[in-house]
Amino acid sequence: MAAEKRPSLGDATRGRILYGGDYNPEQWPKETWHEDVRLMKAAGVNSVTLGVFSWAKLEPRPGERDFGWLDRLMDLMHENGVGVVLATPTASPPPWMGHLHPDTLPVTEDGRTEYWGGRQHFSHSSATYRRYAAAITEDLAARYGGHPALTLWHINNEYCTYDWSDEAAARFRTWLRDRYGSLDALNSAWGTAFWSQGYGDWAEIHTPRQAHYMKNPTQVLDFKRFTSDMLLECCLAERDILRLATPHIPVTSNFMPLWVGQDAWRWAEEEDVVSVDLYPDPRDPLGAQQGALVQDMTRSQARGPWMLMEQAAGPVNWRGVNHPKPRGLNRLWSLQSVARGADAVCFFQWRQSRQGAEKFHSGMVSHAGEEGRTYQEVKRLGAELARISGEVTGSHSLSDIAVLHDWHAWWAGAQDGRPSTRVDHADVLKAWHRALWEAHLATDFAHPDHDLTAYKLVVVPQLYALTDAAVDNLLAYVRQGGTLVSGFLTGVADQDDRVRPGGMDARLRELFGIRTLHEWWPLEEGETADCDGFRGTLWSEEIEKADDSTTEAVYKGGELDGLPAVLRRGRAWYLSTLPEPGALRDLLGRIAYDAGARPVLDGLPDLVEAVRRGDLLFVLNHGRDAVTVPVPGTHHDLLTGTTFRDEVVLGRRDVVVLRS
Ligand code: GLA
Repeated sequence: MAAEKRPSLGDATRGRILYGGDYNPEQWPKETWHEDVRLMKAAGVNSVTLGVFSWAKLEPRPGERDFGWLDRLMDLMHENGVGVVLATPTASPPPWMGHLHPDTLPVTEDGRTEYWGGRQHFSHSSATYRRYAAAITEDLAARYGGHPALTLWHINNEYCTYDWSDEAAARFRTWLRDRYGSLDALNSAWGTAFWSQGYGDWAEIHTPRQAHYMKNPTQVLDFKRFTSDMLLECCLAERDILRLATPHIPVTSNFMPLWVGQDAWRWAEEEDVVSVDLYPDPRDPLGAQQGALVQDMTRSQARGPWMLMEQAAGPVNWRGVNHPKPRGLNRLWSLQSVARGADAVCFFQWRQSRQGAEKFHSGMVSHAGEEGRTYQEVKRLGAELARISGEVTGSHSLSDIAVLHDWHAWWAGAQDGRPSTRVDHADVLKAWHRALWEAHLATDFAHPDHDLTAYKLVVVPQLYALTDAAVDNLLAYVRQGGTLVSGFLTGVADQDDRVRPGGMDARLRELFGIRTLHEWWPLEEGETADCDGFRGTLWSEEIEKADDSTTEAVYKGGELDGLPAVLRRGRAWYLSTLPEPGALRDLLGRIAYDAGARPVLDGLPDLVEAVRRGDLLFVLNHGRDAVTVPVPGTHHDLLTGTTFRDEVVLGRRDVVVLRS
């Protein structure tokens, strides 16, 4: 049977960059809806997301439906040329649900119930919740599946609840039976011989609730896998209902960026459109790089154009101190997403709320209204996106370098009782991506099981746990001519978090030329390890090299004096410490060069980023000073119509989109 052809983001964009955001008109009187439409049209908004948190309005009492207001809004949007991304409202059940069915509420690790009054107060394992969610999804699909405004389905919102309830425990047991088949296999995988934890009956197994001391790490690891799978089950149940009703409409569910609880590789396979919410801190000097990381990861998960579902036009309201976006930053970061493959630039939310927990979170129309700088900048951006839409949508670029990331390795490594709580997987990942970003090297992300053969360089910031198959894959990649660079704490454990003999997979040790890994020497806050040519941070190791490996840098002074800090065997490199940022940038830059990967442009100043998308070259100035950037040849800026020869002049936080 031929594979089913699924709709994609292109079916929703139809050649335009989607521009708009979450729209919550139920918070406003009807007069405001008409004002909204006027402002949307003036700003080039062509897409709004409706209904994300509308469950109580759509189903005011169990089983009742009130679609009248949404009918009017769908029509209003259509009449005004604004497409609708229609959400299933299942992220925030109405108060009656928790009141009538306490079994729909999630339970925390220490047994407390999470109540309504906020949002996301649903148990992913609750049969009652799932039944209500399916019913409202079916009715939405039946009512709006044929509506001409509908472009895309948006399921739930940022799935992210954990649940330790009894009902979750029952599902956990079923999940474990499916995974292990027998209690013997489970006891072996969990290493329950330790601390008298052997299970004799499935009924004895619980979610890893509050315990007196450290918990069984594999039980915790499996609980994380289970949570990601249960949330996915909820998502897929809704997706399948929508697909059945509207096979031609693509489906998405928005990710939180690099959120620990969700195996986004696995989820992305199930989605027609991969979408993400992105909120770098405007004050963070590395905000642009943090954004670039998420954009690179999302593009890689999508394997093509993706959707920026949410960003903030100004400040958020959930940091300790919430900074606005200075002039030009919204435009710059929006175009940075487009450069990295986004075909949709959307915001949370259209109009800033006057009530509720997010009234101090920005909107595209801020409290300052039409005259406010935020809306004025939104308007300019809308016009500019319309100008470049036809040239960018649908195009996709691959990089020569892949950064490997795997949620299971993250979960396994982030346990209690490890050598250093200072080692944070996400921070290490960010440090390596930063090094490549600062070296102006374009990067994809990949999973350790993916086919890596197209890449000239593969870097492994940290994959604490690796399956045998993943190790095979890395070995084959190097055997076939690839260059691999790995950071410490890689290949330590197998998929059950069982430490590999020798403290690191034997085949990986051989690959990197490590004879013996004697001890780990984690570093304290502020402590560094001197190496020849740079300083190491966070971690150091006492390793003995094999005869046929080359020491590329040694530790100098201290207990590790003279031992290898950076080791190489052929094209396989091993870094036993985290070099300071500049040193990691230089080292990876050199290795990439030798592997044949080149910076996007030569001679780029710091804080200037160049990104290729299809035939276009985006050049972005993240700095506050104007810069002149050498770009050989003659280029036409699609945003302003300016022609540049051999160099491009960029003002503060400016960006050009060049066609040569
Ligand atoms: C998330 C949610 C939105 C909103 C924003 C605020 O991304 O999906 O509903 O709460 O955060 O930043």
